[in-house]
Amino acid sequence: DSRGLRDFYKDYFSIGVAVGKRNLSGEESTLIKKHFNSITAENAMKMESMQPVEGKFNWREADSIISFATLNNIKVRGHNLCWHEQAPSWFFTDKEGKEVSKIVLLQRLKAHIDAVVGRYKGKIYAWDVVNEAIDDDSTKYLRNSKWYQICGEDFIIKAFEYAHAADPDAKLYYNDYNTERPEKRERVYKLLKSLKDKGVPIDGVGLQAHWSIYEPSENELVTAIKRYSSLGLKIQFTELDLSIYPWEKNKRAKRVDESDAYTAELEAQQVAKYKMVFNVFRKYKNVITNVTFWNISDRRTWLDGYPVPGRKNYPLLFDTQLKPKKAYWSVIKF
Ligand code: XIL
Repeated sequence: DSRGLRDFYKDYFSIGVAVGKRNLSGEESTLIKKHFNSITAENAMKMESMQPVEGKFNWREADSIISFATLNNIKVRGHNLCWHEQAPSWFFTDKEGKEVSKIVLLQRLKAHIDAVVGRYKGKIYAWDVVNEAIDDDSTKYLRNSKWYQICGEDFIIKAFEYAHAADPDAKLYYNDYNTERPEKRERVYKLLKSLKDKGVPIDGVGLQAHWSIYEPSENELVTAIKRYSSLGLKIQFTELDLSIYPWEKNKRAKRVDESDAYTAELEAQQVAKYKMVFNVFRKYKNVITNVTFWNISDRRTWLDGYPVPGRKNYPLLFDTQLKPKKAYWSVIKF
């Protein structure tokens, strides 16, 4: 069958994949061209990759991802413009090592966004403008990051305004994880609503979808989609994978457990979860504009060794040999 995921989903939403330069040649690139019509740089467009030193930009890997995409008729999602991780420390300190003022930090953020969004103007259809600004502690609201400590909530508002000015046609997203868990969902909703109420140029919300065979439930997923889209925002699932380990166990485990294995039983649960989430996605195609997988196959995923060193994971639709898994067939048959 010459059809790929992108063909089965052409009447629904674009299907994306996160990649690095190493994925763009050989058999992996063949798979990308067959199945995907949207691409995200797994790391190459983050702050530390783009501008490791103030004023010194490093375009190489990002440029090559963009040319691969353009050449193969694949759209590009930008990830990301402002985050507390993978942000170089020079942003927050002056030459003497003292913390900079809000004015200086916002100037640096603007210079960064102007340069990055400006360079790829017209080539990136959607940007994750701010990533993961909500605190992990359910009793708190915004994350106590350097951005927040120095700028308060304004860094979020400004990031969207700068991005919109640099490319008025790009769709602008707020991106976060665990967005289907009720307590986090309501805090993300609160942020999105306050941005909308203030007239901030935001088009949608990116739900990372680093899920597992244990969550979210169908009800949690549907409720989240309805809640966010009630604000008039579009939804993209930006970093989809389904871990075979529960997140709570992830947090506790320090090393590989003897019993960790990709059993037939776990695979069956994963198939069922993939089937359920794609059924829901198709039902809400009017508000969902993209679904992106966080890498291509189980050959290499960021969940290998994270957060448990040495432990392999099997979260994607293609196996370590790049062959479609049972989960693949379950999402294309409908
Ligand atoms: C991850 C990449 O996959 C890894 O290669 C890197 O070492 C760390 O970042 N949320 C995000 C992504 O928004 O940018 C992260 O990507 C995964 C979690």
